[in-house]
Formats: sequence, C-alpha cells, structure tokens
Amino acid sequence: MSQPDREARETVSADNFREVIRHLASGVTIITSMSQGTPVGMTATAVCSISATPPIILVSLTTTSHTAGGVQHTGAFAVHLITDSGKQYAEQFASKGDHFQGVSYQTDEVTGVPVLNDVLGHFVCRVEQSIPVADHILFVGRVVRCELKIKEPHPLLYFDRSYRKISPVSEAKAGNLEPWGSTQDSGLPGWGFF
Ligand SMILES: Cc1cc2nc3c(=O)[nH]c(=O)nc-3n(C[C@H](O)[C@H](O)[C@H](O)COP(=O)(O)O)c2cc1C
Repeated sequence: MSQPDREARETVSADNFREVIRHLASGVTIITSMSQGTPVGMTATAVCSISATPPIILVSLTTTSHTAGGVQHTGAFAVHLITDSGKQYAEQFASKGDHFQGVSYQTDEVTGVPVLNDVLGHFVCRVEQSIPVADHILFVGRVVRCELKIKEPHPLLYFDRSYRKISPVSEAKAGNLEPWGSTQDSGLPGWGFF
C-alpha cells in the first residue's frame, strides 16, 4: 500500500474523534498558575497520573491559553480536584469572564501559584518537562505538595458534554482495591477489579 493510501485509511475526522472521545468520563480539575503577577487558571479534564514514585502528573493545555502561558513563565502549576457541588467553579474557569472573581485562594509559599480553598483536594507541581503536541503543550509536573481536603469526597465528572456525579451503583463496587499496587485483596494481579 502506498504512503498516501495508508495515510488516507489511517486518518479519522475531528468530528469522528470527538464523537467517541466525549464518552470517556473524566474527573474535572482546575489548573492554576501565575502570569506576570496575575493569577491564571482553567477548567481541564486532560490530566493524567503518570507515576507515584516519583509522584508525576501530566496536564495538556491549549498553547494559546493564558494558563499555558503562566505555567511556562512560572515553571509551576496547581491541579485542583473539584467536588460535585463545584459546577459553577468549572463553568467560571472555562468561561470568557474573570476566572478568579469571588474565588477564595491562597498563594503557595514556595512556587507562588494560587491554591484554591473550596476544592476536594489539590497537587502543587514543578514543571519537569514541556512537550508541544499539535495545538497543545503537555506539562509533566513533579508533585511537591498535595492534600485531600474532604474525608468522604464526591468528585465532579464530565461525560458526553455534561457535568455528572458518581452514582451509588459505582460507589458500591469500589471495595478496597488500590490501582497502584496491592493485589492481596482480590487475589488477582494488577487491576483485579476486572
Ligand atoms: C469540562 C471542560 C474541560 C476542559 N479541559 C481542558 C483541557 O484539558 N485543556 C485545555 O487546554 N482546555 C480545556 N478546557 C477549555 C478551557 O477551560 C478554556 O479554554 C479556558 O477558558 C481557558 O482559559 P485561559 O485562556 O484563561 O487559560 C476545558 C473546558 C471544559 C468546559
């Protein structure tokens, strides 16, 4: 098969891609940083846990966003997990308006990034690598601090273009399986849940 034929057969349209990817349920986060003395931040679902030792998180930000500019400038960012009562936060940080209006936060003493108060938990990260991919930049961050702020957390999710909550049926199955290691509860290797 010729190169052009192969490329034609191995390409999907953006619409086709979106139709499928929007069914990947994601946790909703807000990523913050500083840009020339001004706090910046955005709602983001493109967040991925990479490694626990060392603790590494990956985020993917649109190159032209204020937040990506801030992260590049500061070399640090914070990732906040949002509770299922924080839909307004998610909407505000994705809007064209002032993202920080009425938002309570503190400044991380070491990195200088804004850390939001009314969230489920957060990670403060130092950028270890920046990788441009298409119209995004992947920031690989070493977690320098993290905190779970709510004992029985209920996270906000995003699925099929809507904000969602976890339903009781999925809570009931979680048991005590740990994705990062312990297999003794299930007797199965790795992800014994399946
Ligand atoms: C549910 C949801 C998830 C989003 N996830 C991302 C993401 O992972 N990366 C990204 O660059 N933009 C994402 N966006 C879009 C940004 O939140 C939006 O463009 C924001 O206004 C950018 O702000 P800024 O230019 O001030 O940084 C998402 C929006 C929504 C509603």
